[in-house]
Amino acid sequence: MNYEEMKIKLQSRLKPSRYEHSVGVAETAVFLAERFHVDVDKARIAGLLHDCARQYSNEQLPQEASGRGIAIGPVEKEMPLLLHGYVGAQLIAEEYDVDSPEIAQAIYRHTVGGPHMTDLDKIVYFADMIEPHRNYPEVEELRRLSREASLDEMVLEGLNQSIIFVVSKGHLLHPDTIAARNDILLENSKKADLD
Ligand SMILES: [Fe+2]
Ligand SMILES: [Fe+2]
Repeated sequence: MNYEEMKIKLQSRLKPSRYEHSVGVAETAVFLAERFHVDVDKARIAGLLHDCARQYSNEQLPQEASGRGIAIGPVEKEMPLLLHGYVGAQLIAEEYDVDSPEIAQAIYRHTVGGPHMTDLDKIVYFADMIEPHRNYPEVEELRRLSREASLDEMVLEGLNQSIIFVVSKGHLLHPDTIAARNDILLENSKKADLD
């Protein structure tokens, strides 16, 4: 399936605003991939398809996850929407002919992050936060970082903002988000030790 065919299929599955968001994430992911020398085609496809499992409702997602052998942890049980990344990581092969473990992992992790994120994981995570349709108070600062900061500085700030938001709402904080943030800090302090 080529990229145009993926777009047509995705558009038929998602509501219009979610589809426009997906195209925005794909374009933003391409911009970031070029800036940080990451595979542009993988970034484009991962960005486009990251929310493909939003074709299922929150009520359907637990069943779609269990049916694919995805374990549902306590946080996901409380917030089934989180399952759309995990289901999407499998749906890309089932429905869009995409057979790439790197793309699948980036989609798996796009909502809450994960330990030792790859550059592609980081790009998709961040593109989802700042694509042009996003509108919240901190987004302009995050967009500035996307043009000026290093990949890790940028993603660290995205994780910080996301953690602050989740805590301010009184929601559960996913352990993968903490792992993502800790690993970026730890890996950079290791690098600083080597300098
Ligand atoms: Fe998502
Ligand atoms: Fe998204």
